[in-house]
Amino acid sequence: MTNGSKSNRQGRSELTSQPDFANILKARLSRRAILHGAAGTSAAVAMGTAGSVFSPPASAGAASAFDFEEIERIYDETHHVASGYRAEILLRWGDPIIAGASDFDPDNQSRQTQSGQFGYNCDFTAFLPLPFGSDNSEHGLLCVNNEYPDPHISIPGWVGEAWASSPDLTAEQVDTLMAATGHSVVEIEKIDGEWRVVADSEYNRRLDLFTEMAMSGPAAGHDLVKTSEDPSGTRPVGTHTNCSGGVTPWGTILTCEEWAYYDFGGDPAKTDQEESLTRYGYDGHDGLSLARYHPRFNFEQEPNETNRFHWVVEFDPYDPQSVPVKRSALGRFGHEGAQTAVSSDGRLVVYSGDDARFEYLFRFVSRDKIDMNDRAANKDLLDHGVLSVAKFDEDGTMSWLPLVHGEGPLTPENGFADQGEVVINARLAADALGATTMDRPEDFEVNPVTGRVYVVLTKNKKRRADNLNVVNTREENRQGHLVELIPPGDGPAVDHAADRFGWDILVLCGDPSKPEQGASFHPETSANGWFSTPDNIAFDPQGRLWIGTDGMNSLDLADGLFAVDLDGPARGKAQAFYACPAGAECTGPSFTPDGRTLFIAVQHPGEDSETYDSLTTRWPDFDAGLPPRPSVVVVTREDGGVVGG
Ligand code: FEO
Ligand code: CA
Ligand code: CA
Ligand code: CA
Repeated sequence: MTNGSKSNRQGRSELTSQPDFANILKARLSRRAILHGAAGTSAAVAMGTAGSVFSPPASAGAASAFDFEEIERIYDETHHVASGYRAEILLRWGDPIIAGASDFDPDNQSRQTQSGQFGYNCDFTAFLPLPFGSDNSEHGLLCVNNEYPDPHISIPGWVGEAWASSPDLTAEQVDTLMAATGHSVVEIEKIDGEWRVVADSEYNRRLDLFTEMAMSGPAAGHDLVKTSEDPSGTRPVGTHTNCSGGVTPWGTILTCEEWAYYDFGGDPAKTDQEESLTRYGYDGHDGLSLARYHPRFNFEQEPNETNRFHWVVEFDPYDPQSVPVKRSALGRFGHEGAQTAVSSDGRLVVYSGDDARFEYLFRFVSRDKIDMNDRAANKDLLDHGVLSVAKFDEDGTMSWLPLVHGEGPLTPENGFADQGEVVINARLAADALGATTMDRPEDFEVNPVTGRVYVVLTKNKKRRADNLNVVNTREENRQGHLVELIPPGDGPAVDHAADRFGWDILVLCGDPSKPEQGASFHPETSANGWFSTPDNIAFDPQGRLWIGTDGMNSLDLADGLFAVDLDGPARGKAQAFYACPAGAECTGPSFTPDGRTLFIAVQHPGEDSETYDSLTTRWPDFDAGLPPRPSVVVVTREDGGVVGG
């Protein structure tokens, strides 16, 4: 989702007296500069008006782990990639992917046609090799989230306003939008160096707002998830606002439901769940007119339907008949993604950020160990374990606080009758535990080589002097920042299940030429290479970090994909690799196992257009009869080498 349309909820003041967080951070970063081998060089530290400014030590010609020529900063109606690379369109919104599906015809889209076609607003991508368990980098399943529809730029002739409730949308148009969200599975293969979609593959599949699902874990069957259509509370229908996600070690997809609150109708005060609805951002906006035609999306009529969204949904893309399961043990909140890791004793760990202002970082640790020899043995692994939430301390450590019913404040006296209520109202439970409020957590990913964990805080313009904390140190943070979490141990032996980690700031984003922004990129970062509003991150097989942005286009700059050094003297150096077309954000970066193919999901091209009659781009087709189409781009090196050098 793009700027400005997230929850406007004001941050809770979490501290009564305010230490000088900018100076605490400055001191820690200075120590870090020495630890990273910069002793003897000058750590340039200056204070800006908006908080702390830290520049890592200048070291001329610091060797980068990347070897490509970065692109010039450019923002126009098409996309751009670094010289020596090819960026080709693999999948467009509306491409037929299911056997018998109709060709895309924007003037005659329907629920029926859309349900056989690639969905709208692609986001998370993951390449799963075929066959399962292989490291095949030339044949596999591309699993892609489809976050939400954009009626104002996708329905020819309809000139409704962006982000407004849309009384002019017909029932068929609304159902078509509902069929365009969720997730798409598409078999792809590389033939003679060219990637292509395997049309009509039996693996190809769409999940949308009509798909029948199951629910498991502590919330399944709970009174708070029962509805008139599902008195069992175990059979939710549909998935929506699927933003980022993850892949389990046994090859299932975790697709994450982020901000469904925007698309429900009703008045929270007219229900018996006002506190929870308000805490989860529900204000009756009914952004897609879902409630107008489907009463389950009106929480005055069906107050528990909202409790059936905001979950992590697991499904098996290798089994087209598999029923997706909402895994409630992982908590209900605005899941941006769900990145997995394996603890040193063989249990599954899932990291997930709650993307709204002043929300939290969560971690789930499974009770049982993963069985890597038997996929089916892991089918209930995500139903038992401990969910916890992050609290950062000034000494550079952080704690994981368990959300366990009966422990600490999570008692019936405080409104938590059982573990079901703890996970359904995970935000309220995290409030009660005193977790650290963050500047909109987006992706939250593990470096596969070092085991360190990286958190994206995209921005938070509502952050104020009276609610700064040691890891969110900038008032009116419009640029975002990146935090590194350091589990105990080294390399593959790190303990992702430990109660305490270390932490560090990787980069404070923004334009280094504007000191008032307080950016902290490596000083060799060029005028093309700095970025702000980071969103999705990916590690290539070598453990190098790639970051997609969402929101630079509000500054009339292209969103795009940037490479960032993590280790050695170049730590914090950013370089521009790919630029999106007008209005688009750069989502879903992922790699094949050999690192020679990079997938990028270009989301909402042209979204900055006021109406369909004034489109800022018709990328990628540039056909006067076609709207802009969110698309998956496949990037390869012209010489067939590893992306990034
Ligand atoms: Fe859908 Fe958090 O971006
Ligand atoms: Ca998005
Ligand atoms: Ca995102
Ligand atoms: Ca975003």
